[in-house]
Amino acid sequence: MSFYLPDTVNCNGEEFRVLLSEEVLRKRIAELGKQIDEDYKDKKPILIGVLNGAFIFLADLMRCISIPCEVDFYKLSSYGDEKVSSGNVEQRKDIDANIEGRHIILVEDIVDTGLSINYIMNIVEKKNPKSVKVVSLLCKPESIKYHVKVDYIGFEIPPKFVLGYGLDYAQEGRNLAQLYVLKEND
Ligand code: IMP
Repeated sequence: MSFYLPDTVNCNGEEFRVLLSEEVLRKRIAELGKQIDEDYKDKKPILIGVLNGAFIFLADLMRCISIPCEVDFYKLSSYGDEKVSSGNVEQRKDIDANIEGRHIILVEDIVDTGLSINYIMNIVEKKNPKSVKVVSLLCKPESIKYHVKVDYIGFEIPPKFVLGYGLDYAQEGRNLAQLYVLKEND
């Protein structure tokens, strides 16, 4: 496979530079997979990805997990086409799996204010799973406004707008194979 890996990229008229390379991402995601293998041995967890942003991280993370596991998806909208959270979140797609009595791992691309994961957590907990943990590739600790416990964090990053590896700017840039940050914020 040959991935899309430019050093800099223009997306919707804004310049971005590499923040986390493909190699750095790959190495950390392998570590997260190994940790989940150890913590969920004999538990057959269901990984629940939060669409759209988490689809690439989830696909890579799942291939680093070697114990039996399942997958499902929620879809939310929150950012719209802007670079800051709208503060509103809406569910656009429900999961299909019956998660009662199951071990759930919610998979997020990024925890920014924490609104989305807090919202999903409330929905999931009402369905009586046996356990719920959260894995997020990225976390912006300085931006968090809502109560969330993120059990596995790939990388803590500054409160800057990032792009690529599933994350978009007005729906573009998800296909970039590494993580980029807005240049004007440097
Ligand atoms: P939160 O609800 O404020 O925690 O934001 C979570 C969602 O907003 C993520 O799942 C992303 O879809 C989106 N988001 C947050 N920060 C960024 C960013 O820097 N770039 C692109 N999308 C982001």
